[in-house]
Amino acid sequence: MVRVKGKVAVITGVAGPKGIGYAVAKQLGSEGATLAVTDISKEVYDRADEMTALGYAVAPFQVDLIQLKDVHRMVEKILEEFGRIDILANVAGGRVRGVARKPRSRRFIDVTEEAWDRGIAINLKTTFNCTKAVYPCMVRQQYGRIVNISSTTGPIGSFQGAYAYSAAKSAILGFTRALALDGADYGITVNAIAPGWIDTRDSAERRDGLESIIPLKRLGTSEEVANLALFLASDESSYMTGHLIIIDGGLHIPEIKT
Ligand SMILES: NC(=O)c1ccc[n+]([C@@H]2O[C@H](COP(=O)([O-])OP(=O)(O)OC[C@H]3O[C@@H](n4cnc5c(N)ncnc54)[C@H](O)[C@@H]3O)[C@@H](O)[C@H]2O)c1
Repeated sequence: MVRVKGKVAVITGVAGPKGIGYAVAKQLGSEGATLAVTDISKEVYDRADEMTALGYAVAPFQVDLIQLKDVHRMVEKILEEFGRIDILANVAGGRVRGVARKPRSRRFIDVTEEAWDRGIAINLKTTFNCTKAVYPCMVRQQYGRIVNISSTTGPIGSFQGAYAYSAAKSAILGFTRALALDGADYGITVNAIAPGWIDTRDSAERRDGLESIIPLKRLGTSEEVANLALFLASDESSYMTGHLIIIDGGLHIPEIKT
């Protein structure tokens, strides 16, 4: 099957060895795509070396994707090197790798403007910036596959304390739908994935109680999310656009979660 062979893919958030971005990059690489991978963390170079050793064509870029100018510069370099961009997987978000989260109040009364702006920037602006920089090339080509990583947190449910994260991940769904309408005129499809609890931590950190409330009784893996991303990035999903696809082991179903 020729799913993404010969395509050029940009994947963001590719620093963590167990992260979703790295799994998406490996999945696309194993299917013959050329990869441009990026993250704010310098660990993106380690992941790129590992994928080069697997025989994939990879170019790594350490970039703060909140800075639109830097994103444009990166995309120019990718185009100089590979000539086109067919696939964009917007995975970066959540947190900056290597920066520990400070314990903080979950009360809205304690939320600062700075924390709100930062949460929206990491989780939404990064997706806008990368799409903004890559989109003109897809329009020229009259072809593109954009896969945005949202979350069940926001569009489906939420947590006390996850104000900016929930708002940003819901906004990614709205952005996906609006852009799908625009992209339809240029052969560009735009879809979003809403992962539930995915085991992306470096250490085998247990999340007590979580497994038992998930109908499939376990956390998901990055590879399972990547399988879905590969489908949405390929020609096999050619008639799908503007969707949010939930991948959460069934967690969104039960009304009583015990
Ligand atoms: N793990 C889960 O359970 C889960 C569930 C739902 C959604 N998600 C989403 O999946 C995506 C990947 O998360 P993950 O669990 O693989 O975690 P991860 O921490 O491995 O991946 C996120 C990556 O984004 C990078 N990043 C953050 N800010 C950036 C910036 N300004 N510029 C460039 N890179 C930046 C981080 O350095 C990190 O490497 C995130 O968008 C996250 O919100 C994860």
